[in-house]
Amino acid sequence: MVQLQFCALAVLGALVAASPAAERRVHVVKSSLAEIPRGWALHGTPPTHHTIKLRIGLPQSRFADLERALFQVSDPAHPNYGSHLSKEEVEALVAPQPESLAHVEEWLASHGFAVDALDRSPARDWITIVVPVHQAESMLNTKYHVYKHTESGMEIVRTQSYSLPEYLHPHVDVIQPTTMFGGGLRAFGITSHVEVVAAVPGNETDTSCATQVTPACLQQLYNTANYTPKATDKNSIGITGYLNQYANHADLKTFYQKYLPAAADSTFTEVVINGGQNLQDPSQSGAEAALDVQYAGALTYPTPNTFWSTGGSPPLAGNPAPGQMNTNEPYLDWLNYVLQQPSLPQTISTSYGDDEQTVPLDYATRVCSEFAQLGARGVTLFFSSGDSGVGPGGQSDKSQCVSNDGNATPKFIPAFPVSCPYVTAVGGTTGKPETAVDFSGGGFSNYFAQPSYQSSAVNAYIAALGATNAGLYNKTGRAYPDVAAQGTGFRIFEGGKESSIGGTSASSPTFAGVISLVNDALIASGKPPLGFLNPWLYSGGYKALNDITSGNNPGCGTAGFSAAQGWDPVTGFGTPDFKKIVAALGLNV
Ligand SMILES: *[C@@H]1O[C@H](CO)[C@@H](O)[C@H](O)[C@H]1NC(C)=O
Ligand SMILES: *[C@@H]1O[C@H](CO)[C@@H](O)[C@H](O)[C@H]1NC(C)=O
Repeated sequence: MVQLQFCALAVLGALVAASPAAERRVHVVKSSLAEIPRGWALHGTPPTHHTIKLRIGLPQSRFADLERALFQVSDPAHPNYGSHLSKEEVEALVAPQPESLAHVEEWLASHGFAVDALDRSPARDWITIVVPVHQAESMLNTKYHVYKHTESGMEIVRTQSYSLPEYLHPHVDVIQPTTMFGGGLRAFGITSHVEVVAAVPGNETDTSCATQVTPACLQQLYNTANYTPKATDKNSIGITGYLNQYANHADLKTFYQKYLPAAADSTFTEVVINGGQNLQDPSQSGAEAALDVQYAGALTYPTPNTFWSTGGSPPLAGNPAPGQMNTNEPYLDWLNYVLQQPSLPQTISTSYGDDEQTVPLDYATRVCSEFAQLGARGVTLFFSSGDSGVGPGGQSDKSQCVSNDGNATPKFIPAFPVSCPYVTAVGGTTGKPETAVDFSGGGFSNYFAQPSYQSSAVNAYIAALGATNAGLYNKTGRAYPDVAAQGTGFRIFEGGKESSIGGTSASSPTFAGVISLVNDALIASGKPPLGFLNPWLYSGGYKALNDITSGNNPGCGTAGFSAAQGWDPVTGFGTPDFKKIVAALGLNV
């Protein structure tokens, strides 16, 4: 221990001596935005006592090795398939270089921080400091402002640009909150097109998913009806909750009493992260949270179900208390928490997202690589693909379908995190027989390149597409969604009342529910869970899905993309068939 400390100090001294003092004062822009993100307006100057919790991400020196390990353990053709990494193995691969640690520590020490007392992630790839805004401004050679979200009135403290001494650039991936506004973060079930029909009686004659969706019809449609989970002591499912969406135990009970009486005495476990809350007053319940826990829970009962309530969008009210934090970075807070847990649910569903271009590239890249860590540990991550087809706004609204780099180039607007190649994106279908639902989010990333696992499926679609939508989407980008599930007419209970809700928010927990049962069957027969799904899916797993071949996802004043045989950017490879999936995996359930 003592020796290690001595070594670190020696390295530090050598490196610091190598950087001439003058060079160390020259700040160079590290990240900047060409425009204030759409929807926000400059609103003023932060109060002098305002503090900021800055997260500093150090480069994960062996990320290429982590990515290789992720693809190997997720590829059915590789000898390492299913040999998921432990928490410690992942941490060893993402630990920063000693040189990066030394430089960043020296920089922090020069600003008065006690290096021994820094708040760090277990892999030491994140350092968190709490600083008054004026100190953050001098460290990052920037000026923070208060920005107000025009629609919601939310106020945040951010900057359009920040700088670091040039020699630090290779040793820091990202520092936030700086340029990450995140006001576009939304639950993909409570956006514009969604029909939340309060207190309408259910269609008691439709038990087939033709006009409304209930747990019973999904169990029939996706072939899980006769399966009883067996590995409930090991297998579990997790649901993320953000933006003050609280899941309500009483609503879940009412829902189960009507739609799954056998489950009426069961419930979910809630975990509160970063000032998230667990509010059980019916007036505080949220439709998104209700939808997620009710369907993930019903489809997997009696599998344990965790609901994480992550705080992080506190409005900076007119007169904030001294020391009030203002972070609004939900994914990092959630990731920071879950990556520290020694054991994790094998299947996790998230129904929230942003327009990709509103998320700074450095932040998106880092968050995406943290998702890769979860995949390497054997977690299957599902995200809703979005609720507005190929772009935000209405189907004929072109106004939001332009680049925000100052040039306003017309283009489709992909969503994040579904554009991250290490997660599984879930689009939406409707009716029976199933067709693509018109709001199903789909498209091509401008941040992340097409991963090789999907190149043959995606390039075949692009070739068949010809000139349609040419110039509006990025042929070399990661394409999504990967799969789909029902996304309209879900009966839920919220705040004591029954209603009907739709969105790919419904599709993600539904697909996750089916895969959680597959994981149960695998674990019960002594096999590892599926983990990161896409390599399995694109290399043949897709044959066990119901291909959706009709419908399209209009937006940006175009007809969007059309569903087609095989993969398409509306429904991916289609909807799950539990029996076919377990058979494809060689299980006899
Ligand atoms: C109720 O469901 C039946 C069977 O799918 C369908 O024929 C009927 O149109 C539905 N009624 C309403 C009001 O949606
Ligand atoms: C298209 O995607 C690639 C990643 O594959 C990216 O490097 C490039 O900048 C994108 N092009 C545009 C115009 O955004």
